[in-house]
Amino acid sequence: MRSDGALNIEDLRRMARRRLPRIAFDFIEGGVEDEHCLARNEASFHRQRLVPRYLVDISRRDQSAALFDRKYASPFGIAPTGIAALFRPRADLMLAEAAAAANIPFIMSGTSTASIEAAAKIAPTHTWFQLYVARQRAITTDLIQRARDAGLGALVLTVDVPVTPKRERNIRNGFGLPLRLRPSTILEALTHPAWIMGYLRHGMPRFDNWAAYAGAEATAQAVAGFVARETPATVTWNDLEEFRRLWPRHLVVKGIMHHADAVRAAAIGVDGIIISNHGGRQLDQAPAPLEVLPAMRAAVGDKVTLMIDGGVRRGADILVALANGARFIFVGRPTLSGAAVDGLRGVRKAIDILRREIDLVMGQIGCANLEELDETFLLSVDGHGTNGRRPG
Ligand SMILES: Cc1cc2nc3c(=O)[nH]c(=O)nc-3n(C[C@H](O)[C@H](O)[C@H](O)COP(=O)(O)O)c2cc1C
Repeated sequence: MRSDGALNIEDLRRMARRRLPRIAFDFIEGGVEDEHCLARNEASFHRQRLVPRYLVDISRRDQSAALFDRKYASPFGIAPTGIAALFRPRADLMLAEAAAAANIPFIMSGTSTASIEAAAKIAPTHTWFQLYVARQRAITTDLIQRARDAGLGALVLTVDVPVTPKRERNIRNGFGLPLRLRPSTILEALTHPAWIMGYLRHGMPRFDNWAAYAGAEATAQAVAGFVARETPATVTWNDLEEFRRLWPRHLVVKGIMHHADAVRAAAIGVDGIIISNHGGRQLDQAPAPLEVLPAMRAAVGDKVTLMIDGGVRRGADILVALANGARFIFVGRPTLSGAAVDGLRGVRKAIDILRREIDLVMGQIGCANLEELDETFLLSVDGHGTNGRRPG
C-alpha cells in the first residue's frame, strides 16, 4: 500500500486499519478497559488554543530543537513500540533508519523485534534504548551493558507497566504472548492478503534482544513465552538508583505522572522524564500527560528535561506541548501506522506530515524559532491561558 496519498496522520491510521488484520490493528490502536484515557490524550490538545501573533517576519522558520547534547531537526522523536515487526517485517529498523535520516531520536522498545546491535548499526547516533526490567537481574544488567557497548546515547526506563493491563480488544481477539491464532482470527486475517504474505514469508517475529537469554535454539514463540514469564518485574526506586550507577550516559524515566515522583527522580539524578500514560494503554483513569505537565514543571523546574507523549496527531499538538513547557515530544502510533502501511516510506511520510504541519503552524502563529514559543501563545478553553500577557 502506498502512503503517498496520506494528507495527515489520521489518513495513515485509516490505511493501516485497511492493511492490517483486526488482531494486529487493534493491538496498535487499543487502550486499556473503556479507552477513556486513550481519548483523553487527544482531547487534551483540543482544549487549548494557539493565539496567533501577526506582523512578524516568519520568512525563515527554524524548528530544530536542542535535547541533551544534540540538536535535532524537529522537536519530536519516535516513542518505543513493541513487537513492531508484526505489523511490517523489519519495522524497528525502518523506524531507526527513518529517524536517523530525519535527524530525530528513535527509542528502541524493550520488546522490539530487532536487536540493540542491529539498530546501533543503522542509526548509531539516533537510537535510544527503552528498558523493560526482567525478573532475573542478570538479564537486565546485560541489556544495559549491551546498550552501553553499542554506544547508544540514552537509556529509557519505562515504569508504567507494574502489572499486565486489561486491554479488552486484545482479550477479545485472543492476542497474547506467545501469539495463539484462533480459527476466526485467521479467517479475518485472510481478508488482508498483503499482510498475510509478509507474515507467511517472515513468520512470527522474534524479540531479538531476548533470544540470547531464552536459549540459543529458542523459536520466536519460545522467546515470547520467556518474555511473558520475565515481565513485568517489580521495579522500585532502589532499582532506579542502581541503573543510575550502571548507565553512564543520559538516563530517562518514561511513565512518571506524579510531580512528587518527578522530584524523587530528579534527586536520583535522572536527566529526563517522558511524562506518559503509555498511550492510554495502562490506567484508564490516568490524566493526559499535558494535564500534569504544569505541576511537573513547577516541581522540578529545569533540573530534569521534561518530555511528553500521548495523543499527538498534528504538528500543532507538538507546538501546544512545547508552549506548555515540554522540551521534546514523542509519537508512538503515528510512525507505527506509517511503517505498517508503507514500510520505510510510510515512516518517512509520518515524520514529514508532522514536520510540515509544525512549519506551517509556526508561520501562522508568528513564531520563527521554537525558543520563542511559550505560554503567552496559549489560551485554554478552561480559561487558564495567558493569551499574550506575560505571567508575573
Ligand atoms: C503498539 C504499541 C506498542 C508499544 N510498546 C511500548 C513499549 O514496548 N515500551 C514502552 O515504553 N511503550 C510502549 N508503547 C507506548 C509508547 O511508547 C507511547 O508511550 C505511546 O504510544 C504514545 O501515545 P501515542 O501512540 O498516542 O503517540 C507502545 C504503544 C503502542 C501503540
